[in-house]
Amino acid sequence: MNSPTTQVYPIVWHEDRVLLIDQTRLPHKYVVVEIKCCEDMAEAIKTMIVRGAPAIGVAAAYGMYLGAREINTDEREMFLNQLEEVAQVLRQTRPTAVNLFWAIARMLKTAHETIGSIEHLKSSLLATAQAIQLEDLQTCHAIGDHGLEVLPTKPEQLCIMTYCNAGALATAGYGTALGVVRSAWREGRLARVYACETRPRLQGAKLTAWECLQDRIPVTVITDNMAAHCMNRGLIDAVVVGADRIAGNGDTANKIGTYSLALVAKAHNIPFFVAAPLSTIDFDLPTGSQIPIEERHPSEIYQVGETMICPPGVEFYNPAFDVTPANLISGIITERGVVVPDQLQQFQFQASA
Ligand code: MRU
Repeated sequence: MNSPTTQVYPIVWHEDRVLLIDQTRLPHKYVVVEIKCCEDMAEAIKTMIVRGAPAIGVAAAYGMYLGAREINTDEREMFLNQLEEVAQVLRQTRPTAVNLFWAIARMLKTAHETIGSIEHLKSSLLATAQAIQLEDLQTCHAIGDHGLEVLPTKPEQLCIMTYCNAGALATAGYGTALGVVRSAWREGRLARVYACETRPRLQGAKLTAWECLQDRIPVTVITDNMAAHCMNRGLIDAVVVGADRIAGNGDTANKIGTYSLALVAKAHNIPFFVAAPLSTIDFDLPTGSQIPIEERHPSEIYQVGETMICPPGVEFYNPAFDVTPANLISGIITERGVVVPDQLQQFQFQASA
């Protein structure tokens, strides 16, 4: 048995403000950014100071409260109209992770259903944001433990490949895919994590590797194009990734490159799991083809640090996510248990805000 938990919490409510670990500065600098208004929270989400689907949801919930507390009226209708404008600012930040929209919807629901003074409404919104954060932390622990039910039982200690960062930094804490890794580590069932570096933003090399080091979990970083070779050499027993949005049929949007990993895992008969909370499932979308895919600035491709790596004049395409078809996914690990993608519908009414 190993030490079970993480001390990494990317989002903290402190007195009257939100503290975020600046994920654009890790692993070399540990910088905490203070967020006091909705506009700054929107900017932090856009620029990926805070990132990862569940963490974006928690951040957006606090963003809603920060916006709400600045609304200066005693008139309920006026307050609700202005709160909708706050929601609109936050909705414009990143399009793919559905947790953002889920959390905003839940905050709006609180506002509409709370009776009483505007001051009471504002404090209910803060309480809801804090509840979303706490629930996500508990959810991640449950996901981690459910993952143990489906990980291969042989060999006794597994090598798990993961992609991007679906860890404590990407959630309220503990992580989804890395939650499964942490639970396996706690139970003595993990030999090593293989973290794909995850071009272009390098969340695997920078963030997953950093988190594993914090918890003393053995980690090997590889470049993305080494994954097939590692599988072919028998180095990998299972792949576990996170998700940004799962359609009703189980098709899963996650960081660009996840789809290739799933194809290669299938070719090598290696189980490929998606670990995600029910808040990541979008039952309004029947299939993954309708999931909006964020495109980011081409500088993420042509620039590494300060260095330009491409000749001037070439064109770029920089989708931040891809969609892995459900038939490549061995199981979806949720806080309510593990399902095969075509059984997902059983969670439909538990997943709504
Ligand atoms: O662009 P990012 O870094 O926000 O993308 C994050 C991912 O793709 C994660 O795998 C996903 O959000 C799951 S996080 C638990």
